[in-house]
Amino acid sequence: MSNQSASSHPRRYAQINVGLLGLGVVGSGAYKVLTDNADAIAQKVGARVNVKRIAVRNLDKDRKVNVDRSLLTDDPYEVIDDPDISIVCELIGGVQPAKGYVMRALGLGKSVVSANKELIAKDGHDAMVEAAARGVDFLFEGSVGGGIPIIQAMKSSLAGNTIHEVKGIVNGTTNYILTRMTQEGAELADVLADAQAHGYAEADPTNDVEGFDAQFKIAILSSIAFTSRVQTTDVYTEGIMRIGAHDIAHAREMGYVIKLLAIGQRIGDDAVQVRVHPALVPVGHPLASTGGPYNAILVRGDAVGDVMFYGQGAGMMPTGSAVAGDILEVCRNMQHGATGRIACTCFEHKRALPVDTVVTRYYVRMYVTDRPGTLSAIAGVFGRHQVSIASVRASAQERAEAIWVTHQVQEANLRRALKELSGIPEVHSIENWLRVED
Ligand SMILES: NC(=O)c1ccc[n+]([C@@H]2O[C@H](COP(=O)([O-])OP(=O)(O)OC[C@H]3O[C@@H](n4cnc5c(N)ncnc54)[C@H](OP(=O)(O)O)[C@@H]3O)[C@@H](O)[C@H]2O)c1
Repeated sequence: MSNQSASSHPRRYAQINVGLLGLGVVGSGAYKVLTDNADAIAQKVGARVNVKRIAVRNLDKDRKVNVDRSLLTDDPYEVIDDPDISIVCELIGGVQPAKGYVMRALGLGKSVVSANKELIAKDGHDAMVEAAARGVDFLFEGSVGGGIPIIQAMKSSLAGNTIHEVKGIVNGTTNYILTRMTQEGAELADVLADAQAHGYAEADPTNDVEGFDAQFKIAILSSIAFTSRVQTTDVYTEGIMRIGAHDIAHAREMGYVIKLLAIGQRIGDDAVQVRVHPALVPVGHPLASTGGPYNAILVRGDAVGDVMFYGQGAGMMPTGSAVAGDILEVCRNMQHGATGRIACTCFEHKRALPVDTVVTRYYVRMYVTDRPGTLSAIAGVFGRHQVSIASVRASAQERAEAIWVTHQVQEANLRRALKELSGIPEVHSIENWLRVED
């Protein structure tokens, strides 16, 4: 058949109806991807993907996308309960009422796509159990890394590996703030205020700057990586609020940048260690050059070695891309009667180890007395707690600043040393201490 005759008789596709809950940043992105690329999507999937109904909170609000207003409703149940809709996308956020909507849709035998990291990290297990019971899909690629295809990659392409570590920069807002502090030598409060004024940070930035957003994401990634459910309460979490321009300048002089890292590690056969905290990263490390709002995630598998995923970790079109990808995956599964193929992969029960057991290097910044014997007295305290020192730099002033970098040591020992040091006369104050990830 010639191309001309093929195009003059366009193939007629079956239609799969999708309902969106939410038409904000992510909902608008998903809608735009599905409508802008509708013809190509129909050919790829073998079915026309039609957004039939969209629930929002405020029907009068201006929308970021051109949408037929008759599709909008302020009653989510008009979407969920519509018998013609077979895929429901939850793009509202928060645990409730989102969870209630997700569970109801799954209970009705519909597949669900969500980008809701908080819901998935805290209660995703319930949704996965329900999806498995109903033989439908519950997919959530958009919940971690925005447009970066990390979840599907770990569940499929990397599934043959034993994953030893997943580590990355998964929060764009804090990465943007730390990048600007590094470039401009500015203090955090000033950069944060400016980021809020320009829409790069939320009016309430708590979830980002206190590390909770990264906590949700590393709980999800670690659960998949280590085939064991990691709860948000298992994740040691520290945000960036105590990082000063001073620490960034010292780190830079020593050849490091400061990044908010999310780290999950398999420890032996039966334990994991999962944490979120700022850390010094050597400038030559691939994560060090991940700047601005970008995300990067490094996965270490026994067979594949190191694989790095990099891209825009949030935003309308990148996250819309991930949500649309999940919708297409469900459509393909539906076409082949294969929904529910990949159920919850957490079939083990590993212990989550406390942060005290972390073994790494540390940076400690303190003010000390400028007297002979001060540094050796402090080194003596470190030594008593088996903290061995790799380097020390001190300025000669009445209230001298001393920067210590340790060799690898267990965190419990470092904490004990710092506690003792805060009580000796040679130390005015311990200003900050940070982990060093080499
Ligand atoms: N923004 C990102 O870059 C990004 C990236 C990855 C993942 N996510 C996740 O994606 C989800 C959505 O985030 P977003 O940034 O798109 O949020 P958003 O811009 O605030 O949009 C939320 C949408 O949900 C609607 N909505 C809220 N409560 C509702 C209710 N009870 N019933 C019906 N509709 C309701 C809102 O309606 P109105 O428009 O009428 O107010 C709005 O359209 C969140 O879970 C978020 O964590 C976001």
